[in-house]
Amino acid sequence: MQTIAFDVGSIRRDFPVLDQIVDGKPLVYLDSAASSQKPTQVIEAISRYYLRDHANVHRGVHELARRATEAYENSRARVARWLNATDAHEVVWTRGTSEALNLVAFSLGEGLGPGDEIVVSEMEHHSNLVPWQLLARRKGARLRLASLTDDGRLDLGHLASLLGARTRVVSLAHVSNALGTINPVSGIGALVRERSDAVFILDGAQGAPHLPIDVQALGCDFYAFSGHKMCGPTGIGGLWGRKALLEEMPPYQGGGEMIERVYRDYSTWAEVPHKFEAGTPNIAGAVGLAAAVDYLEAVGLDAIHEHEMSLTRRALALLSEVEGLRILGPAEVEARAGVLPFVIEGTSAQDVATILDAQGIAVRAGHHCAQLVVDRYGVTATCRASFYLYNSDEEVDRLAAGVRTASEVLLC
Ligand code: ALA
Repeated sequence: MQTIAFDVGSIRRDFPVLDQIVDGKPLVYLDSAASSQKPTQVIEAISRYYLRDHANVHRGVHELARRATEAYENSRARVARWLNATDAHEVVWTRGTSEALNLVAFSLGEGLGPGDEIVVSEMEHHSNLVPWQLLARRKGARLRLASLTDDGRLDLGHLASLLGARTRVVSLAHVSNALGTINPVSGIGALVRERSDAVFILDGAQGAPHLPIDVQALGCDFYAFSGHKMCGPTGIGGLWGRKALLEEMPPYQGGGEMIERVYRDYSTWAEVPHKFEAGTPNIAGAVGLAAAVDYLEAVGLDAIHEHEMSLTRRALALLSEVEGLRILGPAEVEARAGVLPFVIEGTSAQDVATILDAQGIAVRAGHHCAQLVVDRYGVTATCRASFYLYNSDEEVDRLAAGVRTASEVLLC
């Protein structure tokens, strides 16, 4: 594959949406953790598919049905190569990370019973917490939460103390959406295997877009991800899982496409992954996500991570000069992704975000679907700036200037 030299200026030209004026100021888009922007290459791949190839998949013998099926399954194979999966059939298409985690919680969860334990942490996005709460209620299982340290990391000692013979599932964020922390997941996987027979699941919503991913090296059993956070379209994502586990698990939804044979009172199931893909899938989404993977790998995930670290380092230095500003998450740049949650003591995060918006700067304010995190750090909401491959040093400088203005206006 041809590698693109890392040059923010030329990367930005691939994202026409970034080149616009908001309230008289050039847009500074710092909300990629919520949803990333899309390069022309992805938009054109989706458009090409609809302009020439669309039909339903796995259902017809005609030319367009063949092309659509080929595009859909080739996209699965492309995503499997990106993840370093051993078999493309280990990739199940879903609507995104939330559906992927609900799928595992529901389907794998069928095997759990009273007394079984599920371990998550206080760092989890609600997508990796609420499905496990529902499962624990349904099965009488016990949900246990690993604590966080004051500097925004998983408390590994506490996590280790929760693991044992009763632990059936450990499900953790690869990267925290609310703190920016990159968790040491390979080491945690080893710890899980040493202390239990639990299945180890990673919520990769914020990991997959920003770090090289190798599911074999990570040592997890499942990895969930979303297309829209990694330059792909909304409504598509996936679940990578070990084939032996996927084969044992019952279907998640019933309908067309997921059956082998239907009788009057029972059915048998299609092979993995089709057993989990009831109904007409998001074919164009899969095509777009594969194009996004092509794009990100051509730029290079290592280079993207380096770039984000450099932006984060700059932002940490500039923001630490703002009076009353507190940054959540680890102080060391190496321990965090390009996600910077902050509060200006004595002000509301929504007010800060509104003042930034008036300067053309898009950040997110709120609990970021991680209410246990804001509770843990004694705030109700944070402002969150999140960086991606298309952000520049100048944009970080505009963020810092905007935050200084917000602080002056709100604290005067
Ligand atoms: N999970 C997304 C976020 O963190 C929506 O903003």
